[in-house]
Amino acid sequence: MTFKRCDTTVAWTALRGHYEAHGRELDLREAFGRDPRRFEAFALEAPEVFGDLSKCRWDLLTRQLLIDLARECGLEARRDAMFAGQAINATEGRAVLHTALRAPRGQGLFSDEVHGVLDRMLAFADNVRDTAASGIRDVVNIGIGGSDLGPRMVVPALDAYAHHGIRCHFVANVDGHDITPVLRELTPETTLFVIASKTFTTQETMANAAVAREWFLARGGSDIGGHFVGATTNLAAAAQFGIHTTFGFWDWVGGRYSLWSAIGLPIAIAIGPENFRALLAGAHAMDRHFAETALEANLPAQLGLLDVWYRNFHRFGSRSVAPYHQGLARLPAYLQQLEMESNGKRVDQDGAPLAYDTSPVVWGEPGTNGQHAYFQMLHQGTEVVPVEFIAVRRPSHGHAALHAKALANCLAQAQALMRGKTTDAALGERAPTAAASLEPLALARHRSFPGNRPSTTLLLDALTPRSLGALIAMYEQRVFTSGAVWGINSFDQWGVELGKSLCNDLLPRLDSGDLRGLDGSTAGLLQRLRR
Ligand code: F6P
Repeated sequence: MTFKRCDTTVAWTALRGHYEAHGRELDLREAFGRDPRRFEAFALEAPEVFGDLSKCRWDLLTRQLLIDLARECGLEARRDAMFAGQAINATEGRAVLHTALRAPRGQGLFSDEVHGVLDRMLAFADNVRDTAASGIRDVVNIGIGGSDLGPRMVVPALDAYAHHGIRCHFVANVDGHDITPVLRELTPETTLFVIASKTFTTQETMANAAVAREWFLARGGSDIGGHFVGATTNLAAAAQFGIHTTFGFWDWVGGRYSLWSAIGLPIAIAIGPENFRALLAGAHAMDRHFAETALEANLPAQLGLLDVWYRNFHRFGSRSVAPYHQGLARLPAYLQQLEMESNGKRVDQDGAPLAYDTSPVVWGEPGTNGQHAYFQMLHQGTEVVPVEFIAVRRPSHGHAALHAKALANCLAQAQALMRGKTTDAALGERAPTAAASLEPLALARHRSFPGNRPSTTLLLDALTPRSLGALIAMYEQRVFTSGAVWGINSFDQWGVELGKSLCNDLLPRLDSGDLRGLDGSTAGLLQRLRR
């Protein structure tokens, strides 16, 4: 596909001018003062997700110019090409069709294959969930990256829907401190291992799978075929491991986009077939929204465009995600792979170096925990970090008073970031813990907040399989949008290769002590580790 570099467009030049004239200095407090309908103007309704983009450092013209930019860069054509199964992952010559995994039967590409595996996987999950018959009490997912982060995030998020007679464990790290405490709690007869690896060659996963198999046999287990299943595109390698039950997927499913595929097996076991289908349906509804809604009302597209505005014009280097729902504790970690592995690129689709920045750092913790840790920096630090708040109107627990406090905190933090506090206001306040000897003006400076710090708020009515599916798909399509505007390939990950091959070189040196050809630091460290 041909594409137009964003920094060569008319809209980019217009955005640059607009930023200098009105963007850099835009004050949110004044903007709300000027326009009593600002909330409505920047509110977006998408399936299951409401987005308030009014506390973002942009105005209506910025938004229009960003939409112009998207059109000039061919976002819509690229989006349509993705849905149509064109090989938009050009460096790997692959289509990008995770959207087909959540299309209803008969509607998406490869529907027979997709629904064939899905039906088989859900029937298998259902059998496991019948614990009286299956005898399974613990499911251990062994996988890393995209073969771990999705299920590890979704299973606790949907705890209210989970089978509480089965515990799900996740082992990813090649560091043995990950698998050791997990195995300590288990017995072979009641444990099912899911070996999740698209390639079935990933060092960490293969090493942990071997340890699990060793443990299983050493503890008296004999039926490897009955207690180990695979989620992979490499059925032959799984068979070689001794696995007979495999759930396949395809090279057009990227690792970080794979929780909708067989990689979702632990989710299906935890929440059951009907809920897993609801997760897919929510994602599909968001796909339709992204594919069919004009950019002027398209939530994932506008979030992605805002990311471009923030990264390339405001030059914000990171975005903090603060889900005010403990179930979403792993969402920031999930989004780190989704966004930073997808858009952490420095050349365009043709391999030409970029003259502009791409993926920001994405990080965060659930609220209110983050408030007692790093929010200090968000409020008073020298750098502006846009914050993304996620709030859920109805809790899935019965503690109404706790929930009200969580929601009030969420709103208050967004308000405080924007509002700030002047030195004069601080001067008029008492600060009981302040040193008595401190000069009042100096103290007031410590206690003032610049404000005008931007945030986005995403609201869900409840955290259900359907709404979570929609939320995740929204993030996927947002990352697609910024990647398309930046003109990069969001679907490869060559950046992980170098470390992998250097590790293969160093591993035998730990044994042999061979330091030839190593830099001084690596040689010195290796020597110390061998002592
Ligand atoms: O870290 C690189 C990566 O390829 C990720 O993209 C992927 O999700 C992960 O490794 C795991 O790969 P696999 O599922 O093949 O084991």
